[in-house]
Amino acid sequence: MKSITSESYSVHFNAIAFAALNTHLENASYSKVFVLVDENTHEHCLPILMPAIEQEYDFEIIEIESGEEHKNIATCTQVWEILSELNADRKSVLINLGGGVITDLGGFVASTYKRGIEFINIPTTLLAMVDASVGGKTGVDLGALKNQVGVINQPEMVLVVSEFLNTLNERQLQSGFAEMLKHGLIQDRKYWNTLKNGVAPEQIDELIYHSVGIKNEVVLKDPTEQNVRKILNYGHTLGHAIESYFLESPAHELLLHGEAIAIGMVLEGWLSHQLEGLTESDLIEIKKTFAARYPKTTFAPSDIDGILSLLKFDKKNSHGNINFVLLKNIGQPVIDVQINENLLHEAFAYYSE
Ligand SMILES: NC(=O)c1ccc[n+]([C@@H]2O[C@H](COP(=O)([O-])OP(=O)(O)OC[C@H]3O[C@@H](n4cnc5c(N)ncnc54)[C@H](O)[C@@H]3O)[C@@H](O)[C@H]2O)c1
Ligand SMILES: [Zn+2]
Repeated sequence: MKSITSESYSVHFNAIAFAALNTHLENASYSKVFVLVDENTHEHCLPILMPAIEQEYDFEIIEIESGEEHKNIATCTQVWEILSELNADRKSVLINLGGGVITDLGGFVASTYKRGIEFINIPTTLLAMVDASVGGKTGVDLGALKNQVGVINQPEMVLVVSEFLNTLNERQLQSGFAEMLKHGLIQDRKYWNTLKNGVAPEQIDELIYHSVGIKNEVVLKDPTEQNVRKILNYGHTLGHAIESYFLESPAHELLLHGEAIAIGMVLEGWLSHQLEGLTESDLIEIKKTFAARYPKTTFAPSDIDGILSLLKFDKKNSHGNINFVLLKNIGQPVIDVQINENLLHEAFAYYSE
């Protein structure tokens, strides 16, 4: 599989990924190499990474607790302090070995420690492989508000090694699959058709490659999200609000990122049908596809009010307006659509029926 070239770095796949890392480490002459893990990637992923590294570097492992609830400034402070105690200097590198929480938080910590040290992303979840580790968005949550603090800054390289997925559970795999379905919906009807009825395990490498290609193409056109990059947020305006709401309300079980945006894609599909001409049959197909993969979530009226009140914190807002990405067709998005609150209630009614 050929490497994919992004802004200032490359994404390397499977067989050549660790060789690319070794070459990079050999040429970069880092003073120290830090590897950021959580307890799960420490157990399952570090034993794959470490034997693959040939260079005689001074390695330090930094472990944080897993889970979205730890993607916050308090955890960043812990990591900054450990880096400082271990004398990380400007020529140190941070390798983020984990899911989207590790790559988002680690990228942000590296981008800000001593005004920025280099970092490398080695995603270990499907979601991080196809989405979070590519594109340079880094950051953490502020309270329950998703990704409220962060910077856009590019890694030195991204290594996608699907062997890591062998220890990932089914629910996490499905969560990542939601972002792949999104890539089909916003850019590639043929890809959507391939994915919608499910895929065989042996297809996963080529599908990950295709998704990274779609994401990268969009990011390259608009790295700082002035216009076209916004299409990657399909399902995310409502999806992030739902994710935040569930994160902060102890009465609800946590929803994974992909599960929340899967709901967001159905809701925003309904809005697309109402406002942008997405056909009814496409809408039904979208709803059925997500319903077959993700458990149905129940929303009480008070939940919906809570979710809608979180929308005003969405980063896609400007000048007090809430902006949505909708679909004219599968594969054909439109950005910056503003929507009346009443319609949002109806969208939830459609999801719930
Ligand atoms: N920066 C971006 O562009 C972008 C894009 C999409 C999502 N995100 C962010 O990504 C985050 C979600 O990422 P995620 O779904 O990877 O979550 P995650 O990082 O929480 O990982 C999910 C769980 O799987 C475990 N895990 C990771 N790799 C494993 C492996 N190989 N084997 C066994 N267990 C493993 C983790 O410890 C964790 O418990 C969210 O915070 C979301 O906002 C960012
Ligand atoms: Zn996402």
